[in-house]
Amino acid sequence: MSSIDFQRRLVSGMRPTGPLHLGHYHGVLKDWTRLQHEYDCFFCLVDWHALTTHYESSADINRYLQEMAIDWLAAGVSPSSATLFVQSHVPEHAELHLLLSMICPLGWLERVPSYRELQQRLQGRELDTYGFLGYPLLQAADILLYRAGLVPVGADQLPHVEFARDIARRFNHLYGREEDFELKAEAAIRRLGKKASRLYLSLRKSYQEQGDVEALNTAQALVKEQQTITIGDRERLYGFLEGGGKLILPEPRAVLSDTPRFTGLDGAKMSNSGSNAIFLRDTPQQIDEKIRRMPTDPARVHREDAGEPTRCPVWPMHLTHSSSDVCQWAEQGCRSAGIGCLECKAPLIDAIASELAPLRERALDYEQSPDLVRSILAEGAERARDEARDTLVEVRQAMGLNHR
Ligand code: TRP
Ligand code: SF4
Repeated sequence: MSSIDFQRRLVSGMRPTGPLHLGHYHGVLKDWTRLQHEYDCFFCLVDWHALTTHYESSADINRYLQEMAIDWLAAGVSPSSATLFVQSHVPEHAELHLLLSMICPLGWLERVPSYRELQQRLQGRELDTYGFLGYPLLQAADILLYRAGLVPVGADQLPHVEFARDIARRFNHLYGREEDFELKAEAAIRRLGKKASRLYLSLRKSYQEQGDVEALNTAQALVKEQQTITIGDRERLYGFLEGGGKLILPEPRAVLSDTPRFTGLDGAKMSNSGSNAIFLRDTPQQIDEKIRRMPTDPARVHREDAGEPTRCPVWPMHLTHSSSDVCQWAEQGCRSAGIGCLECKAPLIDAIASELAPLRERALDYEQSPDLVRSILAEGAERARDEARDTLVEVRQAMGLNHR
């Protein structure tokens, strides 16, 4: 625990249920390519999560897995900066999920907002299953297995990260106790020296009494800086900040991506379940065709009818892809019927095609050698397993499962 800096650890995941589109690129993948240089990133292709909802069409999962890995690589997620791996290649996810299931109250799972919602949205699938109910717990295991402090996700995933925090807290509460913890923590604080211990105590107070998260971060940094303390003391000092026990599983925080929902070709949210998406590896011809066929302001029946950009699904795409000059040109041209819709779409087609060109280029190598992708994922799984094994040693021991 002491050797890893969980505030620099980051885990995220995606379910391999279809090809990735522009919305994924702007909402998630571009963020990942930035974060991979700043944090120790674990990006997981969560095939077991895909099975919880798509167990009846599981044959597709393998194909999507390979394709999604290529999409990630094409977008610039780099195996030399981040760890890319498949969830089921790291069986430790399953063991931690099982162990956490022992302490996970059923009510917590049933209360996760996405549960009923997704069950209703995916009507037609039988989701009254044990596996689907456990979806958030499996996700918690994904995160806690790497003792990650940060989880970059969209707003829809906030309840899941919150859930992972609750589980971590409960785990630490149940198993992070040791005899005389308080006494040992106090001794550890004294060993920090006068100045540092005073600072530690006042930061702890601000966090515990006022919930001051900044103070918590500063105090954790303070503990991290200490070079001469033992591993045990370090864990106690971390644990004492947040509660009354050793910190075995740190509580992760969500990092929200700030990109708004991405509008699809039909004006609804871009999704891969509909036919309204531009996929990351669409060819220029496909992009051209898709955008040309996009519906526009329904009031513009004829070229000479004035239009209103805010009623047109093309407009939000201009806002995300075009310069302010082009936006102004489109807006005015539309309202004055000065330009036709195809004219209006032309710069957009160019912008999207040139945005995606480097992705298609990067994907080529991987498309031609599936083995290369496989070996990247195999290497990622090895790296992930190394971390995962360490966590499980501590978890098993904390739960009393160290009889060997
Ligand atoms: N549930 C997430 C989603 O649908 C995917 C996911 C699984 C995940 N495990 C994770 C995201 C761990 C972040 C961290 O988007
Ligand atoms: Fe939409 Fe552009 Fe046509 Fe106006 S001119 S309706 S913004 S495509």
